[in-house]
Amino acid sequence: MGNLKTIHYNKSIVSGKLEVPGDKSISHRAIMLGSIAEGKTKISGFLDGEDCLRTIDIFKLLGVSIERVGTDVSIESPGINNWKTPTEELYAGNSGTTARLMLGILAGAKVSSAVLTGDESLSARPMDRVTKPLRAMGASISSENDKDLLPLKIEAGSMTAIDYTNPVASAQVKSAILFAGLHAEGTTIVRENTVSRDHTEQMLSHFGAKVHSSNGEISITGGNSLTGKDVHVPGDISSAAFFMVAAALVEGSSITFTNLGLNPTRSGILDVLQNMGVDVNVMNESDVNGERSGTVTIAYNKLIPTEISGALIPRLIDELPIIALLATQAAGTTIIKDASELRVKETDRIAAVTNELSKLGANIEATVDGMIIHGPTALRGGTMDSYGDHRLGMMAAIASLITTEPITIKDSACIDISYPTFFEDLEEITRVF
Ligand code: S3P
Repeated sequence: MGNLKTIHYNKSIVSGKLEVPGDKSISHRAIMLGSIAEGKTKISGFLDGEDCLRTIDIFKLLGVSIERVGTDVSIESPGINNWKTPTEELYAGNSGTTARLMLGILAGAKVSSAVLTGDESLSARPMDRVTKPLRAMGASISSENDKDLLPLKIEAGSMTAIDYTNPVASAQVKSAILFAGLHAEGTTIVRENTVSRDHTEQMLSHFGAKVHSSNGEISITGGNSLTGKDVHVPGDISSAAFFMVAAALVEGSSITFTNLGLNPTRSGILDVLQNMGVDVNVMNESDVNGERSGTVTIAYNKLIPTEISGALIPRLIDELPIIALLATQAAGTTIIKDASELRVKETDRIAAVTNELSKLGANIEATVDGMIIHGPTALRGGTMDSYGDHRLGMMAAIASLITTEPITIKDSACIDISYPTFFEDLEEITRVF
């Protein structure tokens, strides 16, 4: 993982049309529901990034037949009640979504015993936020450490419904409980104070589960079996965000994204760009399998600072590193708060973003739950560490559009986790002026 990549796009404007790869969150859930359901599921637009490939590998070990040709996936499953007991450990790699959602799924499955593992980063990330409510439902989950970190062993048991108020605004926690609730006796309720991404609810409903959601209260009634469906995955707004910011950073730029996921629980980046003075134009919206998509054009304008907090945070949690870079070029002080979840992502993203942007000369300070950024500051080049975190790697690459010297990215290969064609797309949308 020690590879270095040096790039410099400082004489480029950002322009053209782009269809970014499929949404990571939706791709995971399409594989999961297609494997839980009995029969055939066909997925188009699947993200073939490392994280989603780990999810496919896990279901193959559970006896589900999955064939992938590029971004098209065919699943033929015997249904969750007929999965086999895996003979190997289930490796989630770097993927928090795979690990946490699999805990909920396996808790309600009839697989006698399975062990879930992950890479070094994932093995340090908190799992107790999921194991606690699952154990309250009757799940049998054990770990060899006293912190409930991976590896975790899940054994078959009978599950009963729970009424749970989620203390963290986390879609992964909510989803794990809803998946467990799908095979628990009674009606499970998850309450959230701040609404998190709702892809699980949308996908459950598409596959025919009895799920209802209103005013931050989501309920699911257990016991009914699901059958396979077709799923279309729109482009990932969290991936597009890097090129949206690229266009917002360079005067004269304008970029259009087609087939872009616009689920309102994910589109906070568009609100922030607008609040910062950037031109944002959304067209051709439509809904497929509960997921909105459309065409979005982002054009450069003079940047003003903003405050990002409260209910907006879960709607753009993964975009905060690249938003921090953008804020270094706004005239004034941008404040990001209520985002302590950033500290338990693939790396501590508050510490990592602050360190790496400071190296370039940014005026940025870390707070307990966010960052304060004073702009505008000219950025110099240098070596930036990705910390093995895909979103930090992409932030470093986009910084090279405005730095005076080249940027060398440490471990740029980690970008394959969510955006394997990132550098090709960056090349395509940048034109030397
Ligand atoms: C995800 C939820 C978010 C997000 C992650 C993907 C999901 O995590 O950061 O990249 O697919 O459910 P949390 O639920 O922990 O906030």
